[in-house]
Amino acid sequence: MRSYSLIAPAKINLYLEIIGDSPSGGYHELAMVLQSIDLADRIDLRPIGTETIRVRCDDSQVPADKNNLAYRAADLLARQFPTAFARYGGVEIVIHKHIPVAAGLAGGSADAAAVLVGMDLMWQLGLTQSELQELGAQLGSDIPFCIAGGTALATGRGEQLSPLPDLDNLYVVLAKYRNLSISTAWAYQTYRQQFSSFYCAPDDVECRRQRVHSGQMVAAIAHKDAAKIGQLLHNDLEKVALPVYPQVLQLREVFQSLGVVGTMMSGSGPTVFALTESLAEAEQVKEQVKSAIASPDLDLWVAKFSNTGIRIASD
Ligand code: C5P
Repeated sequence: MRSYSLIAPAKINLYLEIIGDSPSGGYHELAMVLQSIDLADRIDLRPIGTETIRVRCDDSQVPADKNNLAYRAADLLARQFPTAFARYGGVEIVIHKHIPVAAGLAGGSADAAAVLVGMDLMWQLGLTQSELQELGAQLGSDIPFCIAGGTALATGRGEQLSPLPDLDNLYVVLAKYRNLSISTAWAYQTYRQQFSSFYCAPDDVECRRQRVHSGQMVAAIAHKDAAKIGQLLHNDLEKVALPVYPQVLQLREVFQSLGVVGTMMSGSGPTVFALTESLAEAEQVKEQVKSAIASPDLDLWVAKFSNTGIRIASD
């Protein structure tokens, strides 16, 4: 049985609107527009011959045990397909981390998505993309999108996907303070504490009709209108994160002052991104932020919008 190396791209949220409580208890019903970018982890999967799952990662912030989503993805497949597990044996998962951890960029979900795609190949399970996405949804709301990638409207708790037209030639500058991380569960719980009185009731169609605005973003994407996409960036979780994390607000303000197409916190943060229409402009904005905020703790990346989800590494 052969080894596989996979590329697992990060995502940003161009749009994140919280509609109400989800019928799947503890979650929220969302309307999101998700976008893959070419900042990616690399996942190596190696057969190890015994019925064991092992995780190694070059980043000490990433747990190497059952708390790792990539571990849980392998464990889920081992439980769902015990015959394949017994026949082919276990797997060593080596994660080469490039996506920052707990950053709102779905790094852990991307790794788990890569494990599902790679183990399907290793164990010759022949699962379809939607079967892999159903398995992924059992582990985390962002995993189905990470498998497919590209640009998509995500509804439900984020696992129901409608592909949108590819957005080529848009670039993103990402900024994150190294020692700052925000728990996704904290962000959503805090949002519920502060805003649940505005939630739409489960079957209130009129409330959804009045409140859900993702349609304008979808139209801007269909027209490939970068300026409009920039104007329509939206993330409800900023309402809870910005007051508590002034560093996030500051990054947003600095990006804004540089005249970028648009800027927003991604997902539950704390990464802030800015959109540009060229690589040269993205590199220039990155340098300008570096000069404006002289903190050794600030990490910056430039990435391009990507049309792909999990793929096999070409080298
Ligand atoms: O699905 P995932 O494990 O990524 O979600 C992490 C946490 O974020 C959940 O436990 C929940 O508190 C919150 N969440 C939510 N509604 C969603 C997705 C996540 O409330 N649609």
